[in-house]
Amino acid sequence: MKVEIPSRRANRLINPGCVVLVTAEHAGRRNLMPAAWVTPVSHDPPLCAVAIGPGRFTHGLIEKSGEFGLSVPGLAIADKVARAGDLSGSEVEDKFAAVGLTPQPGWRIRAPSVAECLGHLECVVEQKITAGDHTVFVGRIVAAFADKEAFGETWLLPEDPHLRPLHHLGGDWFAVLEKRLLVTGG
Ligand SMILES: Cc1cc2nc3c(=O)[nH]c(=O)nc-3n(C[C@H](O)[C@H](O)[C@H](O)COP(=O)(O)O)c2cc1C
Repeated sequence: MKVEIPSRRANRLINPGCVVLVTAEHAGRRNLMPAAWVTPVSHDPPLCAVAIGPGRFTHGLIEKSGEFGLSVPGLAIADKVARAGDLSGSEVEDKFAAVGLTPQPGWRIRAPSVAECLGHLECVVEQKITAGDHTVFVGRIVAAFADKEAFGETWLLPEDPHLRPLHHLGGDWFAVLEKRLLVTGG
């Protein structure tokens, strides 16, 4: 039996890609915010997209700087991810300090990345699309780094759950993937 899902929760059916901390910086002001609505969109050139509400402080920093970072948190900092989503950079001087996360210099962009995270993408904005009540920033990936204990050819999902990327199911619900499976079609 299937039950109808209300449209306000429909996105949660395809939500659980990993959650990211979006970072941005402009004119000496840096910030981070969690985002679950993020996806790769092109191999060549390598592009990814993130949907950000125009009211977010981070939105303005991305618009002005033309860059953003995506840092992938693990389970170890789930509480800080949730806290970063409850707080706006418009309310505090430095959200990194407010939530207890460490900014580290970007490799190829000015925006910092989050030192405690397992993986990092750095993106330069190629396109900005208004989609309903969010803006989809499409970014060209100009740098990518990851912890080698956590990521090889894919996420490795080792025994230590803190080395697994964090997923956001919706509301206050988060998850980590349990097991990597090799499945071939032929
Ligand atoms: C797990 C999680 C996922 C979120 N995903 C998104 C998202 O994809 N897009 C978005 O605009 N806001 C998302 N939010 C809400 C923002 O992170 C939140 O409004 C944040 O306070 C904005 O911070 P800022 O104003 O400092 O930019 C999410 C929040 C949480 C906790």
